[in-house]
Amino acid sequence: MRTSLIGVITVMLAMLACGGNSAPADMAGAAPSKGDKIYNTQCTLCHGKDGGLGISGAKDLRQSTLTREEVLALVSNGKGAMAPYKNVLTKAEISAVVDHVLGLRKKE
Ligand code: HEC
Repeated sequence: MRTSLIGVITVMLAMLACGGNSAPADMAGAAPSKGDKIYNTQCTLCHGKDGGLGISGAKDLRQSTLTREEVLALVSNGKGAMAPYKNVLTKAEISAVVDHVLGLRKKE
């Protein structure tokens, strides 16, 4: 568990360092697409595929200015109408979906 989390983080750091292009999929247990799979099943209901849907007062994720750590905490613990995900997703899954959320900003 711990080792695979470190592996996921390493892959993500490598992705950032390369400008977010492609990452080696075979390095960690989690494929790079895992974050968007989780996002598409857990988050699009309120946030929409591009993060801009804004159901029940959700902010446009593309315009969010929260740091990665703040997003991690918000997704783990919930806020307002958004439920906490720490009992729904593993830490590695939350980390992956947070990276997907941060990626929504850069595509703008
Ligand atoms: C039930 C609807 C709902 C779902 C499902 C949901 N959210 Fe949210 N989300 C919200 C609402 C409402 C807010 C605004 C909370 C507030 O500020 O009071 C929010 C806020 C956020 C923010 C903060 C944006 C900012 O800049 O303030 C992030 C990041 C976020 N959600 C990510 C996610 C992720 C990732 C998922 C899936 C794991 C998810 N949300 C699922 C409703 C939802």
